Amino acid sequence: MASTDGPVTLLVVDDEEAIRNAVRKFLLHQGYEVSLAATGEEALAILQRQKITAILLDVNLPGTSGIELVPRILELEPAAAVLMLTAVNDATSAALCMQRGALDYLLKPIDLHHLDHALRRALDRRRAIIEGQQMSRWLKEEVAVRAAEHRHEQAVQERISVATLEALVNALEAKDPYLRGHSARVADLSASIAAHLGRPDEEVEAIRTAGRLHDIGKIGIREEILNKQGPLSDEEYEHVKQHVVVGSQILAPLVHLRDVITCVRNHHERWDGFGYPDRLAGEAIPLGARVIGAVEVFDALTTIRPYQEKMSPEEAVERMRDLVGTAIDPEVHQALEAVVSRRQALVFLDDAPW
Ligand SMILES: [Fe+2]
Repeated sequence: MASTDGPVTLLVVDDEEAIRNAVRKFLLHQGYEVSLAATGEEALAILQRQKITAILLDVNLPGTSGIELVPRILELEPAAAVLMLTAVNDATSAALCMQRGALDYLLKPIDLHHLDHALRRALDRRRAIIEGQQMSRWLKEEVAVRAAEHRHEQAVQERISVATLEALVNALEAKDPYLRGHSARVADLSASIAAHLGRPDEEVEAIRTAGRLHDIGKIGIREEILNKQGPLSDEEYEHVKQHVVVGSQILAPLVHLRDVITCVRNHHERWDGFGYPDRLAGEAIPLGARVIGAVEVFDALTTIRPYQEKMSPEEAVERMRDLVGTAIDPEVHQALEAVVSRRQALVFLDDAPW
């Protein structure tokens, strides 16, 4: 886009030499720089090599007419002010040129005083158009910058809210030696399984967050039931089951965690549809919820609990085979097995004597 500053260079396009010279003389006297062209082709050639502020363009030119030239000129120099020069009987063509982007027209024979006035008005309009375009570009840039700042701010707030909730889960688990680190382990293994299943990074990270927060609803479960050694009564079990609903309710205001919340709510669904709270079955259960549900079983089997011996990861995977197709998604079990055996291979390498 042309600047509004700098010398004002005019291009006079007319096939009559006498008119070109008379207009040129007058414009030079007014302090403008002036170039001349006798045909449309000459005018376009000048525009390609020279910065032009305004053009006085004859409607009737040999070859390419003024009407055809207007859009081609504005394509080469979008900020140029185009004024048409036209015969008295050809005002319709001049109006057509204005539809195509010319700013004004002058009748021949040209009244020089009128030309001066029209030229100044056209240059003022051109300046206003350029300033308007600059303003709208500046506004667009400003809006983009503000939007980026807002998104950044929002992302920071979102991370803080998740970190606060994670701290809450850690505090909850720290009270119970059997649960300490449970959610962090579930998050880590669930994310590895999701990645192994080829899920996109964003979904893997949502599943990791869901793993960290999946049991946050236990905050709403009575402590004597949470800490109870031995089997739960039916009423107590129903109360514990509420933790998935309570968890999703706690997280509900955090709209950016929408996918995380469904995983939290549905991590106790079963592949055969006999889980809770929504009795979803098969692939109707969000993948993250299926993964977290399976990993939660795995974590329970591989950590010390008051009522059972701790199993090795391979033993746990093997034991869980009984649940495949009933409680656990077969594909998730396969992925768990692959991730666990890869991890065990790495542990084996770490422990190797060489
Ligand atoms: Fe749970």
